[in-house]
Amino acid sequence: MAPRLFLSFEGIDGSGKSTQAKLLADNLRAMGRRVVHTREPGGSPGAEDIRRLVLEGATDRWSTETEILLFTAARRDHMEKTIRPALARGDVVICDRFADSTRIYQGATRGDLRPMVDQLHALMIGQEPDLTILIDIDAAEGLARAISRPGKELRFEGMGLTLQQTARDGFLALAQAEERFRVINGARGVEVVQADVLAAVVSYLDTA
Ligand code: ADP
Ligand code: TYD
Repeated sequence: MAPRLFLSFEGIDGSGKSTQAKLLADNLRAMGRRVVHTREPGGSPGAEDIRRLVLEGATDRWSTETEILLFTAARRDHMEKTIRPALARGDVVICDRFADSTRIYQGATRGDLRPMVDQLHALMIGQEPDLTILIDIDAAEGLARAISRPGKELRFEGMGLTLQQTARDGFLALAQAEERFRVINGARGVEVVQADVLAAVVSYLDTA
């Protein structure tokens, strides 16, 4: 039987996660795996409703504590309705952001709320991806890419460069601490990054 794979992409806004998640899904399908490509916040009808609440509107719409509750509520619904059923069927799950984003954005960029994030995660989610690909990029470059993309989900991009810099450092520190991470330099062409992502995933699957 093919090994189980629950994979997340992480990184700051504009790092290229969504682009790479789609390309990896295409590559794994071409290799014969069934793939569920999903995202957070969102990935199930209920969680997509919460996505609109949390990503649209004024920057000061929610306190950080309320955001932790909203992102975790969305994640719980996503786990129940999309991720666990897919893994039970033997599908690969590729998730564009997962709990590391809450650890960094809510847990570390605006004061130290990491213990609260971790407690709620243990209580309500209790699962980590098998493999996490961190697409790393300079904060200014990521922000420039994110802002030039059309759309109205600008609550977090509106929080600016300092937040992106703190988030980048936080993701890199997390990657040092957790064995499931692979860090890939995102400041290169799409195809070069894609080849590195695929190599990391194939190497994981070979040893899983
Ligand atoms: P994220 O999901 O991390 O926010 P996206 O994949 O949406 O990032 O990419 C942000 C923007 O940058 C998009 O307009 C995308 O087309 C572009 N982009 C993605 N990867 C690259 C790359 N390697 N080089 C240049 N531009 C890129
Ligand atoms: P996303 O749609 O991945 O945006 P982008 O493609 O620009 O990276 O995520 C939207 C925003 O939600 C992003 O700025 C990060 C934020 N976010 C959190 O703050 N906490 C979380 O737990 C998650 C999943 C996302």
